[in-house]
Amino acid sequence: MNNNSVTSVRRARSSDQDAIISVCKAAFETKDEAALVKELTAQGCVAELLVAEVSGSVVGTIIFSHLEIVCADKTVDALALAPVAVVPEFQNQGIGSRLVSEGLKSCREAGHHIVIVLGHPEFYPRFGFSSELAKPLASPFSGDVWMAAELTPGSLENVSGRVVYAAPFGID
Ligand SMILES: CC(C)(COP(=O)(O)OP(=O)(O)OC[C@H]1O[C@@H](n2cnc3c(N)ncnc32)[C@H](O)[C@@H]1OP(=O)(O)O)[C@@H](O)C(=O)NCCC(=O)NCCS
Repeated sequence: MNNNSVTSVRRARSSDQDAIISVCKAAFETKDEAALVKELTAQGCVAELLVAEVSGSVVGTIIFSHLEIVCADKTVDALALAPVAVVPEFQNQGIGSRLVSEGLKSCREAGHHIVIVLGHPEFYPRFGFSSELAKPLASPFSGDVWMAAELTPGSLENVSGRVVYAAPFGID
């Protein structure tokens, strides 16, 4: 059965918090991502938070948190996409893709320019992410899993610096 036809994606409300945590616990093997989402929310790091609903139940979520790219002459605001999660019963039905594409649209409409992701190299390029764009961005990560997307064309031009994630990620 393809449940995507009855899926809606919307901005999360504070009343969705428990459902979002449940989705993360169901989608990931450890509780680390659920704990991360709780901390990002508690510490005010969240820029955009969306949920996917099927028949009124939350089955997926995506979170974008604030980060900074510290360059030699400036600091550039950007977002981290992490995590995105869909409960196992509803995976591979297009819900994760809708969360990413509608999440990026929300970020663009909210005035954000750059999004960074550490993720699957065959999944994220279809939404505009590129490992080439991320090469000038220093972090503990590299290679084809380390990607960036410009929400406005050219926003990564002349941006070369160190990525500083929100504190709950615990990435130095
Ligand atoms: C990754 C995830 C959100 C994708 O959601 P989804 O609703 O299954 O995605 P869609 O149906 O829109 O797209 C499925 C595509 O995602 C790919 N995919 C599956 N697991 C993936 C993963 N861990 N990371 C990236 N892509 C993945 C599938 O191969 C498929 O690719 P295809 O379109 O080329 O066939 C979902 O599988 C999930 O929650 N996984 C567990 C949590 C996770 O690993 N999150 C990503 C890291 S933060």
